[in-house]
Amino acid sequence: MNTYGIIGHRINQSLLPAMHNAAIKHLGLDAQYHRIPISLDSSEELANFCYETDLNEIGGFSVTNPFKQEIMNYMDHFDPAAKIIGSINTVLNEESLLIGYNTNTLGSLEAIKEKVDPKDRKVLVLGAGTAARAIIYTLKEYGAEVYIYNRTPKKAEEITKSFEIESLDELNEKVKSFDIIINATSVGSEPHSSFSLLNSNQISKSAVVMDIVIDPIETELIREAKKAGAKTITGERMLLYLAIRQFEIWFKQEAPREVMEKALYDEIGKRK
Ligand code: ATR
Repeated sequence: MNTYGIIGHRINQSLLPAMHNAAIKHLGLDAQYHRIPISLDSSEELANFCYETDLNEIGGFSVTNPFKQEIMNYMDHFDPAAKIIGSINTVLNEESLLIGYNTNTLGSLEAIKEKVDPKDRKVLVLGAGTAARAIIYTLKEYGAEVYIYNRTPKKAEEITKSFEIESLDELNEKVKSFDIIINATSVGSEPHSSFSLLNSNQISKSAVVMDIVIDPIETELIREAKKAGAKTITGERMLLYLAIRQFEIWFKQEAPREVMEKALYDEIGKRK
């Protein structure tokens, strides 16, 4: 079982192969991490890929959209948090049993903790997709006071019920009262990188603003937050920590954090 990889949309742009292969090389492991193309609109192909993990000697893989929910049908077990969140981004082949994990949980928490301890802080999460659900679950469990805003209110309402949190109906002056604001929508990503759900007037100087978008790294929201004098956390920080957790799930040993971090920034640098 020495093959690992990533499946999903835009795998060619993913920064995960650079990080995982650098860690594998550094530790001298007999493994390789590949981009694995699977047709995005064929459930059959996804199912076969999962059934044939042993045949293809796949020890584990990363999952991106659009497969994060559908792939749950092919798992034998789940990390309990992944089941509650309702999506996975990591699969471990554990002696022919597929186990689904969601590492956006630890990934987001570790990234936030670099700038602020979210316990008892008032947090606004923008979005109601799979990433938003993982972040909301994690922060609620950790002891933050979490609110959600979503363009489509019905989806926000479902989340307020599942996770027992509050919602904001609109992005009004109340936004300024939040200690931490997290953009978990795709707003601000290419090809619409000039958009931001908030402007600097709505962000408190004492806030910490995180954007999970990584294309581009410095989004319009991050620029607005800087203009407001707030601290910022860009999307690649979460990617680093979610990758570290993936590596540790697959290889059952401590990931070489500095090696992965260097590989991440080298790869980002190459793409500029
Ligand atoms: P992921 O799984 O990556 O989190 P997703 O499930 O497609 O992605 O969710 C995307 C999120 O971005 C949703 O919360 C979506 O809002 P809606 O539920 O209203 O669709 C949000 N989003 C995408 N484009 C947006 C836009 N232009 N304005 C506001 N929110 C947007």
